[in-house]
Amino acid sequence: MSRSGASAQPRKYDILVWGATSFTGSRLVEYLALNAPAGTKIAIGGRNQAKIEEVRAELAAKHPDAPVGIRAMDILVGDSMDGARMREIAAEARVVASTVGPYAVYGEQLVRACVAEGAHYCDITAEMPWVRGLHRELNDAAVRNNVHIAPMCGFDCIPADLGCFMLAKYARSEFHEPLLHVKGSIVGIRGGVSGGTLATLANQLGIEARRFWTRLFSARRAAAATTTTATATATATATATATGAATEDREGPPTNGRETGRWPIHYDRTLKRWQTFWIMSIVNVMTANWAGRVLNYGPAFSYAETMTVRSLAQAVVYGLGWVYGAALMLFAPTRSLLYALRIIPRPGEGPSEAFMRRGYFSLHLEALSETETFYGKVSASSDPGYQETVKYLAESALCLALDRSSSSSSFRPGIYPPSVIMGDALLARLRARGCQFDVGRAPIPARLVAADKKTA
Ligand SMILES: NC(=O)c1ccc[n+]([C@@H]2O[C@H](COP(=O)([O-])OP(=O)(O)OC[C@H]3O[C@@H](n4cnc5c(N)ncnc54)[C@H](OP(=O)(O)O)[C@@H]3O)[C@@H](O)[C@H]2O)c1
Repeated sequence: MSRSGASAQPRKYDILVWGATSFTGSRLVEYLALNAPAGTKIAIGGRNQAKIEEVRAELAAKHPDAPVGIRAMDILVGDSMDGARMREIAAEARVVASTVGPYAVYGEQLVRACVAEGAHYCDITAEMPWVRGLHRELNDAAVRNNVHIAPMCGFDCIPADLGCFMLAKYARSEFHEPLLHVKGSIVGIRGGVSGGTLATLANQLGIEARRFWTRLFSARRAAAATTTTATATATATATATATGAATEDREGPPTNGRETGRWPIHYDRTLKRWQTFWIMSIVNVMTANWAGRVLNYGPAFSYAETMTVRSLAQAVVYGLGWVYGAALMLFAPTRSLLYALRIIPRPGEGPSEAFMRRGYFSLHLEALSETETFYGKVSASSDPGYQETVKYLAESALCLALDRSSSSSSFRPGIYPPSVIMGDALLARLRARGCQFDVGRAPIPARLVAADKKTA
């Protein structure tokens, strides 16, 4: 059988939720049961049959009349590290939505299985080095097999990614111009964090720290190796290889998520507010720039992202806070202390329902085309990291499962950001679910920015 037709073959399940016992995964099952069209075939999976049964029983008791019956959902059991089992599981589903992280630890076999078995895939990773490796190794096979692999369908990076996508379309349709630059600022946010997210952050920080030392030592070794003109060439090559720049391919993710030429702490004249470093900007910037390059928003399109604060002092405190927080999570002894003192949640734990209901976020976007400045806003009035993330991931899975044949918009095969894979179809779905993606010529006035804190 030609693999290109594999995903079009009848499958037992439309969507498999992989990681149904996770903090995010159980909420994903609940969202799909309540919001997927009746008749959608959903299975739930993970490594522990008893625990999955417990989640299913709890959700079924809570929602006995859900449009997609929860009690009847089949359970698929397997270990994410078992490649052969992942292939059996992937072969049963049209789309796999995974919440098993850290993805750099547990994610690879499942993506390989989906590519091989012709199952589409989406997740909520924010681990760009992992995605870069997947793209390098598996993108050609995914394109050949006509499979859509969409990582980063959570709060990282849907608002930035689809926000820039929306602005690029607006620049083309309204001004007939390419999009050159977008400056994003988180102008209001309240949200919780789960143990799984913190475990993923710790793992990611460890990888980055190792990369940093490798880069430093390989550049030093190269510098010491030669003395003349060859020195410059060797140093440049070693540094470029270590940073990934030498192998950066136009279709793959960029290697740098920092805005060059601007200090993250600065005063924004449009918002009339101080800006500071925002930790998720690193992955959001790389994702939006990656999509901009693949979809050709404009020559050398770039995205930058910061966070709005009240004063310069707060900007400095927040900026340093991220650095101290990351350092505490990086080292095992301080991390253990944070767990022991219950300052941070363990894997499987997360914010309470009441806390999440009070969540919100608002992302202000200022865009430049060749001759125009215009504005966008992406916002929501529930917890960004969990309630909005679950909505984004569920709608991505539904989009891949149900919209490819009915939608007039094109779906690109391969391993790419959500905007590149699903673009208009996903944007339409999210808008229909109440997610605000607004664009217009007028700036968002400061008082509206403040009011956004709950009314977004
Ligand atoms: N992008 C975003 O905005 C965003 C938002 C939220 C979360 N996330 C990411 O989503 C991921 C999940 O977070 P979470 O807090 O929901 O995680 P969590 O509650 O800690 O759950 C982790 C899940 O992984 C499963 N698992 C672990 N090892 C496994 C294995 N070998 N085989 C199969 N399953 C295995 C666990 O199963 P058991 O229950 O059996 O232990 C559990 O279901 C994290 O990587 C986090 O960073 C991203």
